[in-house]
Amino acid sequence: MAKVMLKNVNKVYPNGTHAVVDAAFEVKDKEFVVLVGPSGCGKTTTLRMIAGLEDISSGELYIGDRMVNDIPPKDRDIAMVFQNYALYPHMTVYDNIAFGLKLRKLPLNVIKERVEEAANMLDITKLLYNKPKELSGGQKQRVAVGRAVVRKPQVFLFDEPLSNLDAKLRVQTRAQLSKLHTRLQTTMIYVTHDQVEAMTMGERIVVMKDALIQQIDTPLNLYQKPINKFVAGFMGSPSMNFIETQLKEEGGAYWLDEGQFKLKLPDDLKDMLKGYLGKSLTMGIRPDDIYDKLLYKESAPENTVKLTVEVVEPLGSELLVYFSTAKTPSIVARLEPRSEVRVNQDIEMVLDISKIHLFDNETEKTIF
Ligand SMILES: Nc1ncnc2c1ncn2[C@@H]1O[C@H](COP(=O)(O)OP(=O)(O)O)[C@@H](O)[C@H]1O
Ligand SMILES: [Mg+2]
Repeated sequence: MAKVMLKNVNKVYPNGTHAVVDAAFEVKDKEFVVLVGPSGCGKTTTLRMIAGLEDISSGELYIGDRMVNDIPPKDRDIAMVFQNYALYPHMTVYDNIAFGLKLRKLPLNVIKERVEEAANMLDITKLLYNKPKELSGGQKQRVAVGRAVVRKPQVFLFDEPLSNLDAKLRVQTRAQLSKLHTRLQTTMIYVTHDQVEAMTMGERIVVMKDALIQQIDTPLNLYQKPINKFVAGFMGSPSMNFIETQLKEEGGAYWLDEGQFKLKLPDDLKDMLKGYLGKSLTMGIRPDDIYDKLLYKESAPENTVKLTVEVVEPLGSELLVYFSTAKTPSIVARLEPRSEVRVNQDIEMVLDISKIHLFDNETEKTIF
């Protein structure tokens, strides 16, 4: 087991693409850290540099206390699970899992013990003498994990290992991998573009965009205190609503004016916002912080807005309701199923002002 530390790590590919810019973070010993971001942001490149499959252009990489910039992959004591599983089609499941151990010339009884233990852990014991083509996607995925587990590495690296599975299997396998981490107590770095996977699996999450790390924090802190508009919009499903407003002063109070509605801001924000008076600001509010006025106790004219219902999605435990105004094409709210909203209705909704975020439109940074 070991920590992994990146100090200003950069990757410039021979064609000039600067795929990772000054990546700096530490994964603690035994920690489960998820790297998340849209396709092409540099996640795989980061992971491949940690694995040693890709040279580092500049910076330092440590596994444990050892700088490994120039250590070949096989001597880094890591195991990587890829998106495409990369199983050997002509070998049985047993031989696929045992392959790396045989190369290392471990005694046969040790190999057998480790393969059986991993198979048991991953619930593939019955499949040990099948060939990969006889397995489902989820089973192949577990064989690929088994092959990594038997190596007993210091660090596991996963690159989008669930993206070839269907939705239901993804949810199950997600939970299995979390359990595996609890059981093995080994450092894990997991790459995904799926923010739900990141939120549910990561003890901490590294959010990347365009080769740059945006924010590193626990799932809850990323959700509640995003550092900029990108992180705010990326984490959470449905996404945070962004509404263009103007900051105005009226009757001694500060208001966010959307054009069709106005929201009064608490007085204690005035100092922070003074410089923005008269300017446009993006307001962010999560679907969970918008309420049907008829079911909400603390409505007041200052936090109530009139919206037109465009779409209602009844999901059983909740209703997702999509609204629009003349200026804002889509606002989504997560309402209680007993709410009786109907399509085309003009309805009064309450926005919980204590939960809103404001973003500077020039820098896209969070003001609060
Ligand atoms: N071998 C390569 N040569 C040149 N550019 C590459 C290579 N591999 C990846 N890239 C580029 O580097 C950027 C990051 O890629 P990647 O790390 O695969 O992103 P992600 O895994 O987040 O989707 C992309 O712009 C991609 O096109
Ligand atoms: Mg990738």
